[in-house]
Amino acid sequence: MARVVGDGAIYHYLKDALVHPEHQHRGLGRRLLRAVVDRVRADAPSRAFFGVFAARGTEDFYRGLGFDLRDDLTGMFQVVTGGDRGAPARPGVP
Ligand SMILES: CC(C)(COP(=O)(O)OP(=O)(O)OC[C@H]1O[C@@H](n2cnc3c(N)ncnc32)[C@H](O)[C@@H]1OP(=O)(O)O)[C@@H](O)C(=O)NCCC(=O)NCCS
Repeated sequence: MARVVGDGAIYHYLKDALVHPEHQHRGLGRRLLRAVVDRVRADAPSRAFFGVFAARGTEDFYRGLGFDLRDDLTGMFQVVTGGDRGAPARPGVP
Protein backbone atom coordinates (compact mmCIF):
# COMPACT_ATOMS: atom_id res chain seq x y z
CA MET A 1 0.00 0.00 0.00
CA ALA A 2 1.00 3.58 -0.44
CA ARG A 3 -0.72 6.87 0.13
CA VAL A 4 -0.17 10.44 -0.87
CA VAL A 5 -1.37 13.21 1.42
CA GLY A 6 -1.53 16.82 0.47
CA ASP A 7 -3.76 19.73 -0.36
CA GLY A 8 -5.06 18.28 -3.61
CA ALA A 9 -3.32 21.06 -5.48
CA ILE A 10 0.37 21.92 -5.13
CA TYR A 11 1.65 20.04 -2.05
CA HIS A 12 2.02 16.26 -2.06
CA TYR A 13 3.76 13.91 0.36
CA LEU A 14 4.26 10.21 -0.23
CA LYS A 15 3.51 8.40 3.03
CA ASP A 16 3.59 4.83 4.26
CA ALA A 17 4.82 2.89 1.26
CA LEU A 18 4.60 -0.73 2.36
CA VAL A 19 4.86 -4.17 0.77
CA HIS A 20 4.19 -7.24 2.91
CA PRO A 21 7.53 -8.77 3.95
CA GLU A 22 6.66 -12.07 2.24
CA HIS A 23 6.34 -10.23 -1.09
CA GLN A 24 9.23 -7.76 -0.88
CA HIS A 25 12.10 -7.70 -3.41
CA ARG A 26 9.90 -8.92 -6.27
CA GLY A 27 9.50 -5.54 -7.91
CA LEU A 28 6.07 -4.80 -6.42
CA GLY A 29 7.18 -1.73 -4.47
CA ARG A 30 8.84 -0.15 -7.48
CA ARG A 31 5.79 -0.84 -9.70
CA LEU A 32 3.35 0.46 -7.08
CA LEU A 33 5.29 3.65 -6.43
CA ARG A 34 6.01 4.23 -10.11
CA ALA A 35 2.24 4.25 -10.66
CA VAL A 36 1.75 6.63 -7.72
CA VAL A 37 4.48 9.00 -8.91
CA ASP A 38 3.15 8.92 -12.49
CA ARG A 39 -0.35 9.75 -11.21
CA VAL A 40 0.85 12.76 -9.20
CA ARG A 41 2.96 13.99 -12.12
CA ALA A 42 -0.02 13.70 -14.44
CA ASP A 43 -2.43 15.49 -12.10
CA ALA A 44 -0.29 18.17 -10.45
CA PRO A 45 0.44 21.54 -12.01
CA SER A 46 3.93 22.53 -13.06
CA ARG A 47 6.27 23.33 -10.14
CA ALA A 48 4.10 21.45 -7.62
CA PHE A 49 5.95 20.04 -4.60
CA PHE A 50 6.19 16.28 -4.12
CA GLY A 51 8.06 15.12 -1.02
CA VAL A 52 8.77 11.86 0.79
CA PHE A 53 9.96 11.11 4.31
CA ALA A 54 12.27 8.27 3.36
CA ALA A 55 13.05 5.67 6.01
CA ARG A 56 16.79 5.37 6.58
CA GLY A 57 18.27 3.03 4.00
CA THR A 58 15.54 3.56 1.39
CA GLU A 59 17.06 6.69 -0.18
CA ASP A 60 18.34 4.90 -3.28
CA PHE A 61 14.95 3.25 -3.77
CA TYR A 62 13.32 6.70 -3.82
CA ARG A 63 16.06 8.22 -5.98
CA GLY A 64 15.10 5.66 -8.61
CA LEU A 65 11.61 7.18 -8.57
CA GLY A 66 12.85 10.73 -9.11
CA PHE A 67 13.14 11.98 -5.52
CA ASP A 68 16.38 13.56 -4.35
CA LEU A 69 17.94 15.87 -1.78
CA ARG A 70 17.92 19.41 -3.11
CA ASP A 71 20.19 22.28 -2.16
CA ASP A 72 17.44 24.83 -2.84
CA LEU A 73 14.98 23.24 -0.39
CA THR A 74 15.49 22.69 3.32
CA GLY A 75 13.15 20.56 5.37
CA MET A 76 12.59 20.52 9.14
CA PHE A 77 9.98 18.59 11.07
CA GLN A 78 8.79 17.79 14.57
CA VAL A 79 6.79 15.03 16.20
CA VAL A 80 4.03 16.39 18.42
CA THR A 81 3.92 14.86 21.89
CA GLY A 82 1.34 15.53 24.58
CA GLY A 83 -0.92 17.46 22.24
CA ASP A 84 -4.40 18.47 23.37
CA ARG A 85 -6.03 15.64 21.44
CA GLY A 86 -3.87 12.88 22.93
CA ALA A 87 -2.94 9.79 20.96
CA PRO A 88 -4.03 9.46 17.32
CA ALA A 89 -7.39 7.78 16.84
CA ARG A 90 -7.17 4.06 16.02
CA PRO A 91 -10.07 2.56 14.12
CA GLY A 92 -12.04 0.15 16.28
CA VAL A 93 -10.35 1.25 19.51
CA PRO A 94 -12.57 3.30 21.80
C1 LIG B 1 10.47 -0.13 0.69
C2 LIG B 1 9.49 -1.19 0.15
C3 LIG B 1 8.10 -0.56 -0.03
C4 LIG B 1 10.01 -1.64 -1.24
O1 LIG B 1 9.10 -2.64 -1.75
P1 LIG B 1 9.64 -3.91 -2.58
O2 LIG B 1 8.49 -4.55 -3.26
O3 LIG B 1 10.46 -4.78 -1.68
O4 LIG B 1 10.60 -3.18 -3.63
P2 LIG B 1 11.12 -3.73 -5.02
O5 LIG B 1 11.17 -5.21 -5.03
O6 LIG B 1 10.34 -3.09 -6.10
O7 LIG B 1 12.60 -3.15 -4.93
C5 LIG B 1 13.27 -2.61 -6.01
C6 LIG B 1 14.67 -2.17 -5.52
O8 LIG B 1 14.58 -1.09 -4.59
C7 LIG B 1 15.61 -1.23 -3.60
N1 LIG B 1 14.98 -1.44 -2.28
C8 LIG B 1 13.79 -2.01 -2.04
N2 LIG B 1 13.52 -1.98 -0.72
C9 LIG B 1 14.59 -1.40 -0.12
C10 LIG B 1 14.90 -1.09 1.23
N3 LIG B 1 14.07 -1.38 2.24
N4 LIG B 1 16.05 -0.48 1.49
C11 LIG B 1 16.91 -0.18 0.46
N5 LIG B 1 16.66 -0.46 -0.83
C12 LIG B 1 15.51 -1.06 -1.12
C13 LIG B 1 16.44 -2.41 -4.00
O9 LIG B 1 17.46 -1.95 -4.88
C14 LIG B 1 15.45 -3.24 -4.77
O10 LIG B 1 16.05 -4.13 -5.61
P3 LIG B 1 16.43 -5.62 -5.07
O11 LIG B 1 15.14 -6.30 -4.66
O12 LIG B 1 17.05 -6.25 -6.26
O13 LIG B 1 17.36 -5.46 -3.91
C15 LIG B 1 9.46 -2.44 1.06
O14 LIG B 1 10.79 -2.92 1.24
C16 LIG B 1 8.84 -2.20 2.42
O15 LIG B 1 7.62 -2.32 2.58
N6 LIG B 1 9.68 -1.91 3.42
C17 LIG B 1 9.22 -1.73 4.79
C18 LIG B 1 8.48 -0.42 4.94
C19 LIG B 1 9.35 0.75 4.52
O16 LIG B 1 10.51 0.86 4.87
N7 LIG B 1 8.70 1.62 3.74
C20 LIG B 1 9.33 2.83 3.31
C21 LIG B 1 8.93 3.90 4.30
S1 LIG B 1 9.57 5.45 3.78
